[in-house]
Amino acid sequence: LNSPVILGVSEGAGKYMTGFKTVAAMVKAMDEELGITVPVALHLDHGTYEACYDCIDAGFSSIMFDGSHYPIEENIEKTKELVKICKEKGLSLEAEVGSIGGEEDGVIGMGECADLGVTMLAAGIGNIHGKYPANWPGLSFETLAAVKEKVGNMPLVLHGGTGIPEDMIKKAISLGVAKINVNTECQLAFAAATRKYIEEGKDLEGKGFDPRKLLAPGSEAIKETVREKINLFGSAGKA
Ligand code: 13P
Repeated sequence: LNSPVILGVSEGAGKYMTGFKTVAAMVKAMDEELGITVPVALHLDHGTYEACYDCIDAGFSSIMFDGSHYPIEENIEKTKELVKICKEKGLSLEAEVGSIGGEEDGVIGMGECADLGVTMLAAGIGNIHGKYPANWPGLSFETLAAVKEKVGNMPLVLHGGTGIPEDMIKKAISLGVAKINVNTECQLAFAAATRKYIEEGKDLEGKGFDPRKLLAPGSEAIKETVREKINLFGSAGKA
């Protein structure tokens, strides 16, 4: 689709894949071997202070420092330090201020953090990770507009992209959201396709038990979900 991509790696995923160095080496090698022509960012998602340093060392191109659980002064202090290092090494840095529920603090903290020189800010505007409950009131566009007012042209990040209705996604983008994280939706698509394969007994036919065959429908389902998101988010053809 000729879209730039950001590969977001959580600490859990990094550990599962034996470490951030493995991930960085694999992505670099795949980029070369597959002759990828679009920009590929390798990004640490919700990094602890320590993991940020590990990923900088491993060769990631982007990190998110999630200091939202620290008191705002400590979050700012640690973010400042990482801003300096990321500037020196040419990485982009995402910061999180005021996690979900703390909208008021979030708006205030966002203004301060934006002044520190981070590349992008994760906004807590009623978004949550995973599936949204049936009684979810939706994104708070008022909060988003207030945050935008504070941070000016700084790109905003919307976490919890799974299950947000298309019209809300489009409105959020129009109000300054430039990066949207989607994970659970890919996992659900993978699980559904794998379940179908097994329930249809395909793993029992011929060499259908070969992991390369067994995992292929799930992998295709993730690709299809990503295609839909690239089109919805408007990044197709932007590479
Ligand atoms: P979902 O798992 O809800 O899609 O959220 C992903 C995310 O925001 C990761 O940081």
